[in-house]
Amino acid sequence: MVATVVMLAGCGGDDGRTPQPHDTAAAAIPAAQTAPPAAAEATASAAPADTAVAAPDPPPASPVVQYAQAGLPRSLIDAGCYACHDVNGARIGPPLRAVAGLYRTDPQAIDKLTHKIIHGGGGVWGPTPMIAHPQLDEAQARAMAEAILTLN
Ligand code: HEC
Repeated sequence: MVATVVMLAGCGGDDGRTPQPHDTAAAAIPAAQTAPPAAAEATASAAPADTAVAAPDPPPASPVVQYAQAGLPRSLIDAGCYACHDVNGARIGPPLRAVAGLYRTDPQAIDKLTHKIIHGGGGVWGPTPMIAHPQLDEAQARAMAEAILTLN
């Protein structure tokens, strides 16, 4: 009789340890739950980079296209004016449309600009002077000045 009571008491002692494996598994669950938010952040931060690559700025129109669209003669391309002058934007030289605007009411404009195209010079638009174009004769330079002044 006495031996039976001792064995029952021993079985009760084993039952007291069984919750331990469950506690370990439960402690692992919070650690596993941190993974999905981290993966979501990585996906979100990758999205702007993909957008930037997919939408680059469009390239500006070539000077030849710009000049043709503005109705300027081919001689301004052949003489290299486009190296410093855009039609609408400032580069090394002023935009040709701005030149037309500045001289719109000046009766001396064609003479002044013809002289400047051939001989170069500065002081009107800023400190940078325009190079001379001694290869152009008076009639060629005058035709260029007249064409530029038709821009509006
Ligand atoms: C190396 C650069 C360069 C090239 C090439 C060039 N220009 Fe210029 N151009 C300038 C600069 C700089 C000015 C501003 C000069 C100033 O402030 O007086 C200018 C000014 C002008 C002006 C305005 C002048 C004034 O007094 O308001 C006209 C018109 C002009 N350029 C026409 C031409 C033509 C036509 C050609 C081609 C034959 C040409 N440019 C080539 C740099 C250049």
